[in-house]
Amino acid sequence: MIDIASGHTAIDRFLADGYERVRGMSSHFAAALCGHLIRRQTELGIKGDMVEVGTFEGRFFIAMALGLAPGENAIGIDTFDWPSERVFDRFLANCAAHGLARDRFVAWKERSTKISPAAMRAKLATGTARIIHIDGEHEHAVLTSDLELAHAVLHPKGLIVLDDMLHPGYPDLVITVYDYLRRHPEMVLMCIIDRENVSAAAKFAICRADTSDLYEKDLMTTFARFHFIPGAHVLGHFTLVLTPQLVEVDLDWDN
Ligand SMILES: C[S@@+](CC[C@H](N)C(=O)[O-])C[C@H]1O[C@@H](n2cnc3c(N)ncnc32)[C@H](O)[C@@H]1O
Repeated sequence: MIDIASGHTAIDRFLADGYERVRGMSSHFAAALCGHLIRRQTELGIKGDMVEVGTFEGRFFIAMALGLAPGENAIGIDTFDWPSERVFDRFLANCAAHGLARDRFVAWKERSTKISPAAMRAKLATGTARIIHIDGEHEHAVLTSDLELAHAVLHPKGLIVLDDMLHPGYPDLVITVYDYLRRHPEMVLMCIIDRENVSAAAKFAICRADTSDLYEKDLMTTFARFHFIPGAHVLGHFTLVLTPQLVEVDLDWDN
């Protein structure tokens, strides 16, 4: 396991002794970084709920929910029927086993495409979401719909985190994200969180361009040893890249 911590006590306790025991697909590296982002939001006074589309058995959901402050809620949206209906009971059992009290989260058994922004707002304890993790169906129309739903309820200083970006099994998903960024030029791809392996693929973190300063420099300093300095150029924004497998490149090409 990569030696990385979020700096949030409850999240780090779960990451050290629980995360890998909850079945799921998100990487430990990404959960620690996103946990750090939640802690940073709290320090900055950004208040809002956490939403996840595609909760499955709760691996990433529990990690993020444990980082919320009093009065904020976690909302897990899933059809909870894949690979069987038993996933719902396992999700509830995992939350209980890892210290997430039943009154701190909402388990919403629904297809994300059927949820309107108004229905979503009605479930949000604070009326807005400060971090939204989208990890549902990896298909153009569904991701487009999920992105627009997230956009509609996002806190002005909030983050949308997308899973399975640059995954070899979903090579065209990034086109959907670029379409979204072109429709909403006020948003930028703030950070690419590189994958750990093919099943724990990369995540994209998106925020408003005028708030990216709140996150970028802090991530660069806190996680300097994971910083891929060349970064990425995405639609006019210089995007931060953090990778668990930083390769030292020898640029002394004269020898
Ligand atoms: C890859 S799993 C999520 C893994 C989880 N986020 C984690 O990090 O461990 C994808 C989940 O998305 C759910 N799903 C797929 N399409 C959905 C949709 N349109 N609305 C809600 N849930 C959906 C599936 O039921 C499945 O549980």
